[in-house]
Amino acid sequence: MDVARALKVMFFLQSLAVLVLIFHWSRKCNSCVILKTAMINQATGNVYSKATSVPFASTERGQLSNCTLQDILQRPGVVMLTTTNLGFLDMTMNMLASVRKVGICVNSTIIAEDEKVYQYLHKKAEGDPTVHVVMTNSGLMQTGEVKRKNARTYFDLLKKRQGYFLSLLEVGIEVLFTDSDTFWFRDPFPYFQGDFDMSMMDPRSPYPTRTSRAHYCAGFIYMKPTNVTLLFVKEWIRSLKGKNIMDQIEMNRLLQADKPVHVNIQPLDIKLFPPGPPFYEFLAKNASYSAVVMHAASIHGHDEKVRKFKSSNMWLVNASSDELVAREQYNN
Ligand SMILES: *[C@@H]1O[C@H](CO)[C@@H](O)[C@H](O)[C@H]1NC(C)=O
Ligand SMILES: *[C@@H]1O[C@H](CO)[C@@H](O)[C@H](O)[C@H]1NC(C)=O
Ligand SMILES: *[C@@H]1O[C@H](CO)[C@@H](O)[C@H](O)[C@H]1NC(C)=O
Ligand SMILES: *[C@@H]1O[C@H](CO)[C@@H](O)[C@H](O)[C@H]1NC(C)=O
Ligand SMILES: *[C@@H]1O[C@H](CO)[C@@H](O)[C@H](O)[C@H]1NC(C)=O
Repeated sequence: MDVARALKVMFFLQSLAVLVLIFHWSRKCNSCVILKTAMINQATGNVYSKATSVPFASTERGQLSNCTLQDILQRPGVVMLTTTNLGFLDMTMNMLASVRKVGICVNSTIIAEDEKVYQYLHKKAEGDPTVHVVMTNSGLMQTGEVKRKNARTYFDLLKKRQGYFLSLLEVGIEVLFTDSDTFWFRDPFPYFQGDFDMSMMDPRSPYPTRTSRAHYCAGFIYMKPTNVTLLFVKEWIRSLKGKNIMDQIEMNRLLQADKPVHVNIQPLDIKLFPPGPPFYEFLAKNASYSAVVMHAASIHGHDEKVRKFKSSNMWLVNASSDELVAREQYNN
C-alpha cells in the first residue's frame, strides 16, 4: 500500500471516529445543543495553544466545579472567563470554591499566565466538564504576585485580558469576565438579562443612572457578542497598544467619548455587586446586605485581600499557593 492510500484510509477512519462520537453524544441529550457545542469547540479550537478537550460522560462531576456536562449545557453559549498566575492561585481556588458552594454551573475557562499554575490547574480540571484550563497565548508572566506599585508589569498583565474575551466574542459567545478576587454568594446570571452590550458596576453614579462621572469596573464584566461590543473591544485593544496605562482607565475614557460607538451598558447594582470597601462597611454596621458577588477591588495586594476574606469567613482554601502546589507534587 502506498503512502497516499494509507493516509486516505487513516483520514477515513478518523472521520468515522468523529461521527461515531457525535452520534454517541447526540443520543445522550434530547436537544442538539451538544452538536452545536462540538461545532463551537472546533471553531474555537485554535484560539489557545493548549485546550482540554476530553469527551466527558454527561453525569460525571468535576472536582473543581462539582458540575456535570448536563449542568453546563443548561447555559449554552456563555463562558465565564478568568485569568491567574501562581501568585494568585489560592485566590482563584477560593473564588472557584465559592462558585461551587452555591452550585453555579457555567462553562468556565481559566487562562494560566505561567507554566506552574497551568500544570496545577490543568491537573485539577482533568475530568471536569466545566473548567477548561488554557495556557496564555500572549506571552508568559512572572509567577509571583504582580504588585500595583510595579505599574508597568501590572498594566501589562491587565492589558492581556481584552484579547482573551475578544476571541470568545468573535465566535458569538457571551462572556462573563471575572477577576479572581471575587466571592460569589449567589448566581449572578439572572442579572444579565435584557437588551445591552456590556454590563458592569459603576461606583460613582447613583444606580441605575449613567452619569458623566461614571467609572466602570473592568474586573467583572458581562459582554454580549453584539456588533457594538466587538467594535468597542477592538478599539479598546487598539488604544491600549504601547500605552503604560491601566486598561480600566482607557475603557472609561472610550465609553465617555462614545468611541468608536455608543455602548449600551446595563449597570449592576453596587449593593448586589459591591467592591471590597463598601462591602466591609455594610458588614461592620451589621447592615443587612444581600450581595450576589463581592469583588475585593480597592483592597490592595494579595495578602490584604486574603486577610479581609478570612475576617469575614470568606476564605475557603486552607493553604497558600505554594503549599497547594507542593501538596500536589507530594501526592504524585
Ligand atoms: C465551553 O467553552 C469553550 C470555549 O472556551 C468551547 O470551546 C466549548 O465548546 C464550550 N463547552 C460547552 C459544553 O459548551
Ligand atoms: C455536588 O453537587 C451535588 C448535587 O447538587 C450535591 O448533592 C453534592 O453535595 C455536591 N458535592 C459537593 C462536594 O459540594
Ligand atoms: C452586524 O454586523 C454584520 C456584519 O458586519 C452585519 O451584517 C449585521 O447586519 C450587523 N448587525 C446589526 C444588528 O447591526
Ligand atoms: C454585629 O454582630 C456581631 C455578631 O453577629 C456582634 O458581635 C457585633 O457586636 C455587632 N455589631 C454591631 C455594631 O451591632
Ligand atoms: C485542608 O487540607 C487538608 C490537607 O492538609 C486536606 O486533606 C483537606 O481536605 C483540606 N480541607 C479543605 C476544606 O480544603
